[in-house]
Amino acid sequence: MKKIVTTTLLLASFFAFSQSKTIDQKVDALLKQMTLEEKIGQLNQYNDDSKATGPITVDNDKASQIRNGQVGSLLNCLGTERTRSWQKLAMESRLKIPLLFGQDVIHGYKTTFPVPLGEAASWDLEAIQKAARIAAVEASASGIHWTFAPMVDIARDPRWGRVMEGAGEDPYLGSLIAKARVIGFQGEKLGGIDAVMACVKHFAAYGAAVGGRDYNSVDMSERMLWEIYLPPFKAALDAGAATFMNSFNDLNGIPATGNKYLQRDILKGKWGFKGFVVSDWGSIGEMQNHGYAKDGKEAAYLAITAGSDMDMESRCYKNNLEALLKEKRIDIQLVDDAVKRILRKKFELGLFDDPYRFCNPEREKAALNNPEHTKAAREIGAKSIVLLKNDSNVLPLSKDTKTIAFIGPLVKEYKQNMGFWDVDLPGVDYEKLVVSQWDGLQNKVGKNTKLLYAKGCEIEGDNKDGFAEAVKIASQADVVIMSIGEKRDMSGEAKSRSNIHVPGVQEELVKAIQATGKPVVVLINTGRPLIFNYTADNVPAILYTWWLGTEAGNSIADVLFGDVNPGGKLPMTFPREVGQIPIYYNHFNTGRPAKNDTDLNYTSAYIDLSISPKFPFGFGLSYTTFQYSDLKLSKKKMKNNETIEVTANITNTGKYGGEEVVQLYLRDKFGSVVRPIKELKGFEKIKLNVGETKTVKFVIDNQKLSFYNDKLEFKSEPGDFDVMIGSSSEDIRLKEDFELLN
Ligand code: BGC
Repeated sequence: MKKIVTTTLLLASFFAFSQSKTIDQKVDALLKQMTLEEKIGQLNQYNDDSKATGPITVDNDKASQIRNGQVGSLLNCLGTERTRSWQKLAMESRLKIPLLFGQDVIHGYKTTFPVPLGEAASWDLEAIQKAARIAAVEASASGIHWTFAPMVDIARDPRWGRVMEGAGEDPYLGSLIAKARVIGFQGEKLGGIDAVMACVKHFAAYGAAVGGRDYNSVDMSERMLWEIYLPPFKAALDAGAATFMNSFNDLNGIPATGNKYLQRDILKGKWGFKGFVVSDWGSIGEMQNHGYAKDGKEAAYLAITAGSDMDMESRCYKNNLEALLKEKRIDIQLVDDAVKRILRKKFELGLFDDPYRFCNPEREKAALNNPEHTKAAREIGAKSIVLLKNDSNVLPLSKDTKTIAFIGPLVKEYKQNMGFWDVDLPGVDYEKLVVSQWDGLQNKVGKNTKLLYAKGCEIEGDNKDGFAEAVKIASQADVVIMSIGEKRDMSGEAKSRSNIHVPGVQEELVKAIQATGKPVVVLINTGRPLIFNYTADNVPAILYTWWLGTEAGNSIADVLFGDVNPGGKLPMTFPREVGQIPIYYNHFNTGRPAKNDTDLNYTSAYIDLSISPKFPFGFGLSYTTFQYSDLKLSKKKMKNNETIEVTANITNTGKYGGEEVVQLYLRDKFGSVVRPIKELKGFEKIKLNVGETKTVKFVIDNQKLSFYNDKLEFKSEPGDFDVMIGSSSEDIRLKEDFELLN
C-alpha cells in the first residue's frame, strides 16, 4: 500500500512538473525516477510478429516485459488496434513510458510508391518529398511513430540487392533526395499529428559491400568515405533526421555497430547529432560472428561504448548491461545518455501527452483510403519511368491503335508491382489494391481497341512452351508491348545476384516476338540496373519501369500513350556486363585513359569489352527533343569568396510538351589529390511546352568546388575547372571553363 501511495505521489508530482518544463528537464526528471531495469528496458526493441529480416527470438512473456517497463520499442506492429493493445500494456507499467512503434515504411504504407531507386529516377524532389509525406500520413494514422527510412546508402554495385532501396550512385543527388525524404516523413516538426520520425540508414558505407554481396565487409579509404558515402547522411541530419540506424557491415575491420569512430566521433561528435542510434536487426549480437566480440556481453560492451543506443532484437543489452555496470566496465552515464536520447524523442512526438495519439481507427480508415494519395502515386509512378530507347518514335502509342498484344510474365501480376519492402498489411487484397499493367492498359484504351494477351514464359526457368502462342498473338497485333523483368523479391535485402541479366528465357521471348516484325515496346520491371543487351540492341522502344507500386498499371499506361511524357533519368550507371562492375560516372581518369573502346594500346581498358556503360548515369529520353544553347558564365575568374552564375537556354524543339533534367557537372582539372572526370553539382527539372525556351541558372560557389584534399580538409584549390551542362553524364551539350583564384 505504502509503495502504491509513494509511486502515485511521485507520478503526480512528475506530471505537474511536466506541464511547464522543457523537454530536457522532463527527460532528466523522468530519468531520476527510473530503476536500472527500466533504463535498460528503454534500450530494448522487439519484433512484434513473425515478419522478420533476421533470426527471430520468440518471447512468450513479451507482454509482461512491457508491463514491467523492460521494452522501449516494438517493430513490425501494424494498425491502430494492435499498437493500442501493446501501448495499453506500457501504460500499465510503473512509469507509463510509452512504446515507440517502428516500421520499415520504405516506399509507402498502404498506398505504395515506386521503389526508392525508381522514384530517384524522377529527379523530382518535390514529388519525392510528397511521396514520403503521404507515407507518413498513412503510417502515423495506423499507429506508427517511426519509419526505418530513408536508406541513403550510395551504391555503385547493381549486384547488391539493396540498390533498390536508395537513391543510386551519386552523393549530390543522393543528398538532395535524402533531405526531401526526411522532410517528407517528419513533416513540419516532430509532434505534429502526422509526423513520423525518420531513421537514416545504414550508418555507414553499407552500399560498398565487397562483391555486391549483402552484409559483406567494406574496406574503404577515408577520402572515399567522406566524399562519396557520408554526404547523404550529413544532408539527412541537417534536414533534422531524428534517428539513425547503424549497419551490418564492418568498415575497415570494425563492425559499424561497434564503431566508435562512426557513431561517437563523427555522428554524435563532429556532427552534433542529438537523436538516437538504433542497431540494425540483431547487429549487436552479430559482432560475435564478425569475430569482433567473443560473446554477447562483449558485444553489448562494444556497442554501447561505440554509441549504439537501442538494441534491435539481439537482446545483448537486456542480458548484459546490468552485469557490465556491476563490473564497472561501463559507466551508468553511458546508459543514461542512450536512455535520454530515446526519451527525448518520445517527448517530442507528444507520446507522454497522449500515448494513443496515433491510434484513432477513424483517422486510420480515412488516411488509408484517400483518393488523393492514389492520384499522387500514379503521378510519381509516371515520373519515375525512364525512356531508354524510342527508335522511329514507336512511342507514344496512338489511342486509336486497333489491336495491341500485351505479352510477358508480368502483364497480369498484382503484388509483383509493389517491389521489395512494401508494408505487408494484413488482410489486403492485392488484386483490389494494385492496378496491374493489364488493368492499366484496359483503363486507357477506347472500346475500339482490341487487347490480346499471352504470358509467353515465366520470369525464371527455361520453359519455352508458351512462346508459340505468344508469337501467334503478336502476329495478330499492330503493336506489341512486352512486360519482363525480375520478380519483386529478386532485388532487396539479402537479394544480391551474381548475374544481373534479365532472368530466365525472357529475352529469348523478346527475340521471338521481335522476329514477327511487329513494332515492339519492352517494359522492364525491377529494383536494380539489369543487363538486357539483346533488347537494348534490337527492340525499338524500351521503358524502364522499375517497380512502381499500387498505381503501376495506370502510370505505365499514362506514359505508353503520351498522357505523360517520360522525363526520368537513370540514378545509376547501367553496365554492359557484370565484368564492368563497379562502374560509375564520377571516376578518376588514370594515367592511361583509353580514348575509345578500340584504344587498347596499353590503356586502361578491357580487351574483351567496351569500358563505356550501356546506359550512363543521368540518361533518359523524352518523346520530345531539347536543344541546349547560349552557355554563359558571369565571370571567367573567381575568388573563393565569390560565386559564378552559369546560365543556359533550353528549348523544346520537338512535338510534345515535356520535362527535362538539365544537369550541371564540374571537373577540377588538377588537385593535390586526383579528381573525378566529372561530378554532378546541380540540376534543374524544367517543363517546356512545344517551342518554348527557358533559361536555367546555376550558381557555383566555393562549397561546390571544395573536396577532401591531401590532408583530408574540405577545401577548394585554385586552378582551372570545366563547366559542363548536359542531358546525361555522357551527353554533355555545352562546355566552358573558368579559373578559381587564390
Ligand atoms: C534491415 C533494416 C531494417 C530492419 C528492420 C534489417 O534487416 O537491414 O534496413 O530496417 O531489418 O526490418
